[in-house]
Amino acid sequence: MKIGLIYFSPTGNTAKIAEIVKNKLVELHNEVEEFNITNYSERQKKIDLGQFEAIIFGFPIYYWRAPRVIRDWLLTLKGEGKKSSVFFTYGGVNVGLAHHNIKNILTNQNFILISTAEFVGKHTYNLAGWKLNESRPNQEDFEIAKDYTVKTYKRFTDEDTGIVDFEPSHITEEAVDRIEIMLKKEIPIPFREEECSMCQTCEESCPVNAMDADNGKPNRSTCIRCLRCVVNCPDGVLKIENMLVQYQLIKKATKFTDEILNSRKSKILL
Ligand SMILES: Cc1cc2nc3c(=O)[nH]c(=O)nc-3n(C[C@H](O)[C@H](O)[C@H](O)COP(=O)(O)O)c2cc1C
Ligand code: SF4
Ligand code: SF4
Repeated sequence: MKIGLIYFSPTGNTAKIAEIVKNKLVELHNEVEEFNITNYSERQKKIDLGQFEAIIFGFPIYYWRAPRVIRDWLLTLKGEGKKSSVFFTYGGVNVGLAHHNIKNILTNQNFILISTAEFVGKHTYNLAGWKLNESRPNQEDFEIAKDYTVKTYKRFTDEDTGIVDFEPSHITEEAVDRIEIMLKKEIPIPFREEECSMCQTCEESCPVNAMDADNGKPNRSTCIRCLRCVVNCPDGVLKIENMLVQYQLIKKATKFTDEILNSRKSKILL
């Protein structure tokens, strides 16, 4: 079977799971074509979905759903009745409406969603002082990713004819929109701490074209706070302010303890 594997991964967790999924699919004798759509320029290219029998998507969770930039990009795709699956990575705080929301989007785009999964990964804001799931995804997560791939493949081939059918969520899209607006305001943008070698990597790899390498500053309104530039800077001069206050606020609002936040299990939803 020819399968398209499309993923967005500013800081690498989702890419790690995508690698495991790809290797397992190849082991199952499939032909897999990978599309890493993290960089802005990659999302401007049209992907010919017609050549694939099924598609697997991989996205991080931003504010309880797939990132807005990805939700918008998905609206440019035509599923034409193709089977699809989505896996998420998240930092252990909350997956919120991610599974329901992606099912609605893909169904509206005429895909058939046959499975989803969520994998725990180090939280992006560990770069701002948080200490969430620092060594995830780990071997246990990778084993769950292999199992997810096998179960998904069985649904692609009709050996298992199920599709995902979630119970309605008590959380509404409007409530999550409000949470997204509220949380976004609390997150600082990266800054350049000192002079650098001007390699331009931060500008070229920014997923939303928000970074200006010449002055080392992102555009405040378009920057999605993904911290790809911080991770990718070869000189290590891009930084983000400490966000421990925000961490305490999230803990207070959710009533989650450090122990709960650091002991999440990755899950397959079939
Ligand atoms: C803007 C933003 C919002 C995030 N929102 C959530 C969230 O709602 N719940 C959560 O558990 N983790 C959240 N995270 C953490 C990421 O989902 C997690 O670190 C993910 O694995 C990053 O994927 P990547 O390494 O492929 O970029 C957020 C990260 C960012 C940058
Ligand atoms: S990636 Fe780092 S070194 Fe390269 S231009 Fe940006 S700030 Fe400078
Ligand atoms: S400038 Fe903003 S959006 Fe661009 S890579 Fe850096 S944090 Fe991400």
